Amino acid sequence: MTAVLRDRDKTARRLLGSSSKNSYSPDLDIDWDVPAVDGLFHMQPERMTLYGTALWDGLTDEQRIELSKHEVISVARVGLWFEVLLMGMLAAHAYNQDPASPHTQYALTEIGDETRHSVMFARWADKYGGIEYRPHPVVHTLGKLFRLVAPTGPSLWAGTLVAEELLDRLQREGMTDERLQPMTRMVARIHVIEEARHVRFAREELEREMAAAHWGPKRWFHRTFTALAAAFIVRSLISPKVYASVGLDEKTARKAALNNPNYAQTVRWMGEKIMPFLDDVGMLNRTARAIYRHVHLL
Ligand SMILES: [Fe+2]
Ligand SMILES: [Fe+2]
Repeated sequence: MTAVLRDRDKTARRLLGSSSKNSYSPDLDIDWDVPAVDGLFHMQPERMTLYGTALWDGLTDEQRIELSKHEVISVARVGLWFEVLLMGMLAAHAYNQDPASPHTQYALTEIGDETRHSVMFARWADKYGGIEYRPHPVVHTLGKLFRLVAPTGPSLWAGTLVAEELLDRLQREGMTDERLQPMTRMVARIHVIEEARHVRFAREELEREMAAAHWGPKRWFHRTFTALAAAFIVRSLISPKVYASVGLDEKTARKAALNNPNYAQTVRWMGEKIMPFLDDVGMLNRTARAIYRHVHLL
């Protein structure tokens, strides 16, 4: 057995141990019938897309809380979309591995985690009527391309990390914020705990894959492809449809959000952990940097 395989399985064994001790059942661990608490936000107001704009100033406190509900549900709905994609890719990855290895067992365990997360996000969205906040149909179709192409190189792990770590920043902060709804904080806590394992798994796989790679043009392609996937994820997080919930015009509000320096700062903050890592392992080239810069991840 090579050192790389031993290393891989050592990580997988540790993650399997943690999964068996520290996993949640959102069906049982969350009381879905509890009504929202009056006066509490559903996500951190400073992290919302319009915070600091003239449109934000024109909203009442009730409207801001209402919008926070729709924005957080939109994020969850996009998270769900990506998780379903990821489950397909992990299953395809497992298909090519030794089924008995701890590495494969962990990949299958992660599919189990993501299944529960997706149901959790779907129930949450359903509770607040936000099930329609899906990514744009073009992004949905591009997702199918991502599922086909990403598993041929490091963009599977890099793209996964971008999605997981951006959300992790938001949820890690939100789970301890007492201004937020208990349901938001519980969903965040469950997701943060279980995703920490996924992040470890993907980071190590990406490091190994990049260290072993000797592929010229393929390298350019996977770096650029990951950046494009990241850009579509960032731009899809908040569906323009959320603004109608507080009587704002979708196009005007979307434009204000995209031009909002405060939101650009939030996106940069969300990327603060993952972007230096992608740089360290060699996933940034000039094209990729330009794309990340365009969506404020750099
Ligand atoms: Fe998840
Ligand atoms: Fe995950």
